[in-house]
Amino acid sequence: MSTYHDTYSSWRNDPEGFWSEAAKSIHWDRPWDKVLDVSTHANGSWFTGAVCNTAYNCLDRHVIAGHGDRAALIYDSPVTDTKKTYSYSELLDDVSALAAVLHAQGLSAGDRAIIYMPMIPEAAIAMLACARIGVIHSVVFGGFAAHELATRIEDAKPKAMLLASCGIEPGRVVAYKPLVDEAIDQSQHKPDACLVLQRPMEAASMIDGRDHDWADAVAGAKAEGKRADCVPVAATDPLYILYTSGTTGQPKGVVRDNGGHMVALNWSMKAIYGMDPGDVFWAASDVGWVVGHSYIVYGPLLAGCTSILYEGKPVSTPDAGAFWRVISEHKVKALFTAPTAFRAIKQQDPDGALINDYDLSHFNMLFLAGERADPPTVQWAEDKLQVPVIDHWWQTETGWAIAANPAGLGLIPVKHGSPTVAMPGYDVRVLDDAGHEVPAGTTGSIAVKLPLPPGCLPTLWENENRFKDAYLSEFPGYYKTADAGYTDEDDYLFIMARTDDIINVAGHRLSTGGMEEVLAAHPDVAECAVIGVADDLKGQLPLGFVVLKAGCERSADDIERDCVALVRQEIGPVAAFKTVIVIKRLPKTRSGKILRGTMSKVCDSEAWKMPATIDDPAILDEVTAAVQERGYAGAASGRKV
Ligand code: COA
Ligand code: AMP
Repeated sequence: MSTYHDTYSSWRNDPEGFWSEAAKSIHWDRPWDKVLDVSTHANGSWFTGAVCNTAYNCLDRHVIAGHGDRAALIYDSPVTDTKKTYSYSELLDDVSALAAVLHAQGLSAGDRAIIYMPMIPEAAIAMLACARIGVIHSVVFGGFAAHELATRIEDAKPKAMLLASCGIEPGRVVAYKPLVDEAIDQSQHKPDACLVLQRPMEAASMIDGRDHDWADAVAGAKAEGKRADCVPVAATDPLYILYTSGTTGQPKGVVRDNGGHMVALNWSMKAIYGMDPGDVFWAASDVGWVVGHSYIVYGPLLAGCTSILYEGKPVSTPDAGAFWRVISEHKVKALFTAPTAFRAIKQQDPDGALINDYDLSHFNMLFLAGERADPPTVQWAEDKLQVPVIDHWWQTETGWAIAANPAGLGLIPVKHGSPTVAMPGYDVRVLDDAGHEVPAGTTGSIAVKLPLPPGCLPTLWENENRFKDAYLSEFPGYYKTADAGYTDEDDYLFIMARTDDIINVAGHRLSTGGMEEVLAAHPDVAECAVIGVADDLKGQLPLGFVVLKAGCERSADDIERDCVALVRQEIGPVAAFKTVIVIKRLPKTRSGKILRGTMSKVCDSEAWKMPATIDDPAILDEVTAAVQERGYAGAASGRKV
């Protein structure tokens, strides 16, 4: 029997009692004055007055309790053919030594450090070392290009950059150092120091006075017996900033606090993921995304679990059996990944034949998030793996699941296409444009009644106004998720689409507005639009349209090639921006709004209606012809006039 409904009711009846009970599992240097203080902030602050340290709770606490020999982190890297296990004691030692190095370089509580690293243990060590001394880290995903990194340097104003010389993608080495150098060149703000981890596949050239060799610095600290102690911070102090796509090229700096974050993640590890201390948890994501922050680094370590850090892909490293190898070899109990990873595996091994090569007897649950879990993929995973497959829904902003099927409280029936039900802490409502609740079965904007639970963003970095504008102003008293969907008669949620211009490409969140800004900067482009189109593997892919300036003498092919290169150069390969089409005109309303939604429907062969406000209906026919020529269905048969 699931205790979900009782647990949810107990939270509803006494939210502060619920979270203060959950907070007992965390070590506090000083307890809180108030569980929730609504006087401080638009969204309230959790555990005000409390003093704590996140790294202490992730590491020292377990070592002091006698679990120093337990595996904390297992690094498994098929791309470098390396495996390495760190016990809690070893990880603590490495983290304290790196924290001492950061201290020696002048970093102290409240300073920022940007981490630009691939999936290697030092990335997690860097995050924890910052947390140990109260330095606010901001991890930037390695697939972002120099310009995106520069935007984040400009906003976070880091005192130091922590980076590796390179990342490894199948078939190529990605040099990180030149990207960091270029980003620092582009930025007005200049960090004082760069700590560079030299990987053997690509040595970075160093700039005298600014760049320091990571391995030498850590070895020096260790040789001198230097270790940094934990610096107590306020529960409400920021632990990290994680930039995520907004509606413009300027990403949003989502802030995470220390106290509430620990309470929420620790609670979720048991209640949602069903994990006990010593269990092996694997989030096959990247430390550059929120899933990596919450469930590769902080969540599993807070809960005393063993976390897998995997530098590889679901396919091609070396084959579609990679996930099963890791699960069997490290006795993984639960895997968390994005549906796109399973679509990739299914594409290459449709019968799941490779699964039979491995002993998966320790594996008992698969969690999916990051994009909608399409029912055929869920069904395939259920059939082939014979374990519960749990879709759950969350966002960078929330840091943990808004809706899930809580394994630790006992699963409730799965409904394909639904991430199941709201978790304690989240009072989820579906609203119409005027902010009124709509009945079950009716699609609307999904909002969460304030206050948000512990762990969710208290604000955007140094931009409280943008925080209020983006999330709180449209529906007063609610947090706007910018997702649209509906609930059914059993309060199951169905998340169907974004209400803004964010698209989801292979589980990566991207702004089409940001891509349009890049295209618009091309000297021959007069106007442009970027839309998301359905893709069997990645869920969505961006597709660009550009209208050329009058008198442009270069060929459409040349401009299209330029545009693809420009987006890769400015945003990065992660944008997966491969197609742009030169067209004569963009379809618009009479007030000049580009009809992106209709264009997406045309490309996806979905039924669409001629918008009543369209300026010139003939333009949609031109678009249809252009996309059909490129292999997009653009089926006019779907059209309802
Ligand atoms: N550093 C540099 N480049 C990177 C990178 C990194 N850390 N991560 C990805 N890239 C590059 C890829 O090499 C690729 O480049 P290409 O255009 O030259 O081929 C591009 O960015 C797009 O990468 P990706 O979206 O990962 O596509 P892919 O074709 O390489 O792999 C999947 C497809 C489905 C296997 C892959 O997307 C995947 O494993 N997804 C899991 C989703 C996930 O982890 N989501 C996180 C949220 S839970
Ligand atoms: P990110 O902030 O990168 O985690 O992306 C968050 C967005 O991804 C959400 O707002 C949704 O649009 C989408 N998303 C994440 N998980 C799910 C899910 N389980 N079902 C549907 N959409 C999801």
